[in-house]
Amino acid sequence: VSEDEAASDRSKGPLSKKFPQAIIIGVKKGGTRALLEYLRLHPDIAAASGPEPHFFNRNYDKGLEWYRSLMPKSTEHQLTIEKTPGYFISKEAPARIHAMSKSMKLIVVVREPVTRAISDYTQILNKNPGMPSFESMTFKNMSAGGIDTEWSAIQIGLYAKHLMNWIQYFPLKQLLVVSGDRLVTDPADEVGRVQDFLGVRKLITEKNFFFDPDKGFYCLKKAEEDYSVSHCLGKTKGRTHPNIMPEVIQKLKQFYKPSNKIFYQMVGQDFGWDE
Ligand code: A3P
Repeated sequence: VSEDEAASDRSKGPLSKKFPQAIIIGVKKGGTRALLEYLRLHPDIAAASGPEPHFFNRNYDKGLEWYRSLMPKSTEHQLTIEKTPGYFISKEAPARIHAMSKSMKLIVVVREPVTRAISDYTQILNKNPGMPSFESMTFKNMSAGGIDTEWSAIQIGLYAKHLMNWIQYFPLKQLLVVSGDRLVTDPADEVGRVQDFLGVRKLITEKNFFFDPDKGFYCLKKAEEDYSVSHCLGKTKGRTHPNIMPEVIQKLKQFYKPSNKIFYQMVGQDFGWDE
């Protein structure tokens, strides 16, 4: 079933490509693909599959019509969503999204920042097998003991700092912070929060998930007891991380502590990363 057919099946009516009303803006390695895939099950949601648009950060000069052309076809009643985790750390994205739509709903999936950094590094290592170790990337100069806060794997996890740019433009009630950690352990519950936030019916529930022991993660099925159209995320999602020296992890945890604390205060939610 093609995407268009699926969309027209779900709710009849003329189909057209529309600008998104909600965007998953981050964070890289937070679980953004999982969330988008989960939401794609919803009949009232048209979620852009395929590559990330990177419109408000890298491709802004291509123009709004180019952006719209990347969106899936949808009926009048469906909500269009895209995800580009690079937006969260982009200086330009908040103002640009605001210029397009002041009422945009923003979703950010966050994950414990040290694990996120290691996940990010694992992805880079996959593409460049000759990479230096995580430890030596973290401490540019091992003897000085200073953490390389400019390294993107580290920098992205300073959530409070990045969020500051967004709240200059959007009220907090337009932003939903999703726990990437809970998205792994209890996807139905976390997706429930997202459906509430988006104002769509709570149709994605426990019945759409099953734990796959081989994958080590929850996978999707269309309906209860119907595994015929079930699927897990691809091989690049849920990778095994390399072992990192515990003292390096400890140092990084200490490093993120103040930023995490500010972040919890900003969003009014304690993610328990520092316990
Ligand atoms: P790891 O590969 O480090 O485990 P993103 O899509 O934003 O790049 O996030 C990737 C992360 O999504 C994975 O990181 C994994 O932990 C997480 N994830 C959440 N739910 C998942 C699922 N059902 N299947 C696979 N990975 C999932």
